[in-house]
Amino acid sequence: MKRCIILAHGGAGAKVVTPAQLACLAEALAAGHILLERGSTAAAAVEVTIRVMEGSGLFNAGTGAHLQLDGMRRMDASIMEGRLLRAGAVAGIEHIRHPITAARLVMEKTAHVLLISKHATRFADHFKLERQTRRPRKPALPPSRRNAMREAVTATGPQRRMLRLYEKMLGLETVGAVALDAEGTVAAGASTGGIAFMLPGRVGDSPLIGCGVYADNDAGAVSMTGLGEGIIRIAVAKEIADRLAAGASPATAARLTLKKLVVRIEGAAAGALVLAPDGRFAIRHTTPTMCAGYLTGAGRPVVADRFR
Ligand code: GLY
Repeated sequence: MKRCIILAHGGAGAKVVTPAQLACLAEALAAGHILLERGSTAAAAVEVTIRVMEGSGLFNAGTGAHLQLDGMRRMDASIMEGRLLRAGAVAGIEHIRHPITAARLVMEKTAHVLLISKHATRFADHFKLERQTRRPRKPALPPSRRNAMREAVTATGPQRRMLRLYEKMLGLETVGAVALDAEGTVAAGASTGGIAFMLPGRVGDSPLIGCGVYADNDAGAVSMTGLGEGIIRIAVAKEIADRLAAGASPATAARLTLKKLVVRIEGAAAGALVLAPDGRFAIRHTTPTMCAGYLTGAGRPVVADRFR
C-alpha cells in the first residue's frame, strides 16, 4: 500500500497571495487527503480538493472565475487518472459551480474526453450539477470601450505589453491538484476561469490533456498554472511527464521544462505541481509567487506563496 499524497495550487503569478487563499488551500488539501486515507481514488481526491477552491470565490475558478470580454463567465476544467489513462474535460462551460465535477463526469460517464460550450453546460445540467448563484456581472465597460479593449487584446507592441503587465498584476489564479492514492494510481486536475481580457470563446491550457494536466502511472501526475497561450504551445504537462518517464526527478523535470517555456515563448511564465508514482514531488514556478501546498499524511497541510 502506497503513502497517500496530495498537492494543490491556487495559481501562479505576481499578485500577493492572501491569508484567506492559503487557508482555503489548506482546507482543500485536507478534504482531498481524508478521501485518500479512506481508500478513495486519486481522481476523487483531486476532484474534491478542486471543488473546495472552486466554491470559495477566492480563486479564478468556479464562482470566482474571470469574465470574458462580453461579460460572460466561461470556465474550463479537466481531470486525468494514470492507471487507464482516462481523461475528461469541459471548455467554455457556463453557470456551473463546479466545472471539475463536469469534467470528471465526462471521464466517468461518456466515451469522450472534451465537451465544449453550451453542450458542456447542457451535459452538466443533465446530471443536475449545482449552478452558480451569483449571476455574472454585466460588463463594466460601455460598448465603445469594450471594442477598444478587444482591439488592444489583439494588438502587438507597447499596448500588448501593457495588457500583459496588468494581467500579471491581476494574477493568474487557476486552481489545480495532483494526488497519489493507496493503490499507487496518480491523478491530475485543473479548473480555471481563463485570463483577464480574453476574447469570448478563448480556451486556455487547463482543459487540454497534455497541456494543463497529465497523469500516467508509468510517469507521474502534472497540473499547470500560468498563461495558457504559452503552456499549450509546449504541451508542458506532457513534456514534464515524458521527462519523468525517462528517469528525471520531479524537480528536474519541472525545472527543465519551465526553463524551456521561458526561453522559447516570449513573456511566458508558469507554475507546476509534479508528483511521481513513488511519492517524490515538486512544486516549481517561474512567476514571483505561487499559491500552493501539499499534504503527505504526516501532520498538517504545508502551504506557502512561493516554492523554489
Ligand atoms: N492557465 C489558465 C489559462 O490560461 O486559461
